[in-house]
Amino acid sequence: MLTERMKKLIYEIPKGENHIHIEGSIPPEVAIRLAKKNGVDLPWKTAEELAAHLRQPFASLDAFMESDRMVNSVCQTEEDYAEVLYALAKQAKDQNIIYTEYLLDYPLNEIRGISLETVVNGYEAGRQKAMKELGVDIVFIAGIDRSLSSDMSLKFIRDIEPYKDIIPAIGMDCEENGHPCIKHKAAYDLAKEMGLYLSAHAGEDPNAGDMAVQNVWDAVDKMGCVRIEHGVLSIRDEALMKHLAEKKILLTTCPTGNCPHVFPRLEDHPLKFLMEQGIPCSISSDDPPYVGDLIETMLRTADALNLTEDDIIELERNSLLYSIRGQHHLKEFDAWVEKWKSEN
Ligand code: HPA
Ligand code: ZN
Repeated sequence: MLTERMKKLIYEIPKGENHIHIEGSIPPEVAIRLAKKNGVDLPWKTAEELAAHLRQPFASLDAFMESDRMVNSVCQTEEDYAEVLYALAKQAKDQNIIYTEYLLDYPLNEIRGISLETVVNGYEAGRQKAMKELGVDIVFIAGIDRSLSSDMSLKFIRDIEPYKDIIPAIGMDCEENGHPCIKHKAAYDLAKEMGLYLSAHAGEDPNAGDMAVQNVWDAVDKMGCVRIEHGVLSIRDEALMKHLAEKKILLTTCPTGNCPHVFPRLEDHPLKFLMEQGIPCSISSDDPPYVGDLIETMLRTADALNLTEDDIIELERNSLLYSIRGQHHLKEFDAWVEKWKSEN
């Protein structure tokens, strides 16, 4: 049971969130409205029905991705993308999130014939509005759909070149099983040449077998990633954990998003263990409509893993210390923590 003091800390601490997929995070009420507007026939007719579907425990990452791709099909125009982005920023503001990094999984839109320009312009309009009206600082990460061919991922990185100022980072996501990181090395080499920040989902899906651990090694040592999304299956390899700790590779963990398909219960999640190995970790929600928003993720995880106040502060500080944008928000964060400690 969490103490009232711990709950207060989780609600009030200024937060960064490094790992959230825009396409997987469309709020159900927005998704249903856009589906009606655009004539998209979803199997769910009301926001309540859709919300209930999204909150069911998914048996595998692949099953989750099937749902993710379907819900995303409601977005079609620049205004739709702007609306989704602004709705997410509002949720961030309500949780006292001051800085957030959004994976922009364009390939999920591309296969429906939507242009990159439509998606990026829409999201950017939402981002600008969020900054101006809500003061939430947002950075985009171009998410490569790893299930696509290496030629397609290379083309995607070439295509985002004109948007480098808006999208300063790349990541890789979607189904890990059967899709090794190394397949997309050419895209990462190009992104590195372009000066982009490099990250990747890896070590996430137990169905990927030994490849899950190999993906973390390859992403860090062969592809130049400076952080890993999830990375939780690194617990299977002591040498890898040591390597991540020595190189200070941030793991952007999403404990609620890993259960039950990676770990049966939240109590089994290795976040605390990874922190004890000296690996920098942050905490994120991944896809809030499926697993709860960041505050819910933090409350449930703190309870399940007996996190301490200092653990919470460390996780939130890491999200700003290792941020893509730089360390602009650290001073504000440190001052807040000092005040919290002196007043509480
Ligand atoms: N992993 C991989 N791909 C994803 C995820 C995830 O957690 N969420 C949305 N796309
Ligand atoms: Zn993710």
